[in-house]
Amino acid sequence: MQGKTVVVMGVANRWSIAYGIAQALVREGASLMLTYQAERVKKSVEDLARDLGGASVHWCDVSQDDSIAGFFSQLQGRALDGIVHSIAFANKEDLDRPFLATGRAGFSLALDVSAYSLVAVARAAAPLMTSGGGIVTLSYLGATRVVPNYNVMGVAKAALEASVRYLASELGPQQIRVNAISAGPIKTASARAIKDFSSILDQVAARAPLRRVTDTAEVADTAVFLLSPLGRGVTGDVVFVDSGYHILGI
Ligand SMILES: NC(=O)c1ccc[n+]([C@@H]2O[C@H](COP(=O)([O-])OP(=O)(O)OC[C@H]3O[C@@H](n4cnc5c(N)ncnc54)[C@H](O)[C@@H]3O)[C@@H](O)[C@H]2O)c1
Repeated sequence: MQGKTVVVMGVANRWSIAYGIAQALVREGASLMLTYQAERVKKSVEDLARDLGGASVHWCDVSQDDSIAGFFSQLQGRALDGIVHSIAFANKEDLDRPFLATGRAGFSLALDVSAYSLVAVARAAAPLMTSGGGIVTLSYLGATRVVPNYNVMGVAKAALEASVRYLASELGPQQIRVNAISAGPIKTASARAIKDFSSILDQVAARAPLRRVTDTAEVADTAVFLLSPLGRGVTGDVVFVDSGYHILGI
C-alpha cells in the first residue's frame, strides 16, 4: 500500500473495526484520511490519528449530502486509491423489539445511514480514483440469515450487499473494485446496541469451525488484501471473515 491514499470512514474509538483496518493499512505503508461523524468523537479520533502516524481528520456525516460533498471537495486534485466504509446505524429500540414493530422512520434511517451512504460515498469518490482503486464496506450474516434482534439492520445489510454488486458492475470499467467483508461478531460500541449480543459471541465461539470469535485484526488484513493489488481480480463480492460460522446448516 506504499504510496497509496485511503479514506477510512467509521473510526469512533479504538474498538472500531475501522480503527483496526486503519492500523493494518498504516503497517502496509498507506497514507490515511479519517472521517468522523460528529463533534463528540472528534477529539478521540484526532488522538487515534496521532497513533496512526498523523493521519488527517475530517468531518463527514454520511446522512447529509452537503457533508459528503464538502469532504470530497477538499480532496479535489488529490488522487485517491481506496475507501473503507465502516458505518452503520439503527435506532436501539429497533434492535430489541420484534422486527414486525419496525416503523417507517426507523426503517428509513437504518437503510439511509447503513446502505445508501455507500452509494453516495462511491459517487463522490469515484472521480478522484483516477488510477482505479478499491472500496470496502462491512456487512454481517444477518443480511441473508435471520439473527435474533439484528432485525432492520439485517435488511440494511442486504441492501448494502446488493449495492456492492451494482456499484462493482458500474465502476469496474474504471478499475474501481467494490467489495464487502462479512465480519463475524466483534465487541464494539455498535455491537453492544444489539440485545443479547454476548450470546451471539458465545454461540460463535462454541460452534464456528475455528472455535473462536472473530478478531478485528483478521478483518483488517482481509481489507488490506481487498484494497491492495493482491485483490486485483476480486470485485462485487462478499468475503466472510467469521471463523467459518456462515457455512453451518444447523
Ligand atoms: N461489530 C460487529 O460485530 C460487526 C460485525 C459485522 C459487521 N459490522 C459492521 O462494521 C461496521 C463498523 O461497526 P463497528 O462494529 O466497528 O462499530 P463502531 O460503532 O465502532 O462503528 C460504527 C461507525 O459508524 C459511524 N456512523 C454512524 N452513523 C454515521 C453517520 N451518519 N455518518 C458517519 N458515520 C456514522 C459511527 O460514528 C462509528 O464510527 C458497521 O457497518 C457494522 O455494521 C460490525
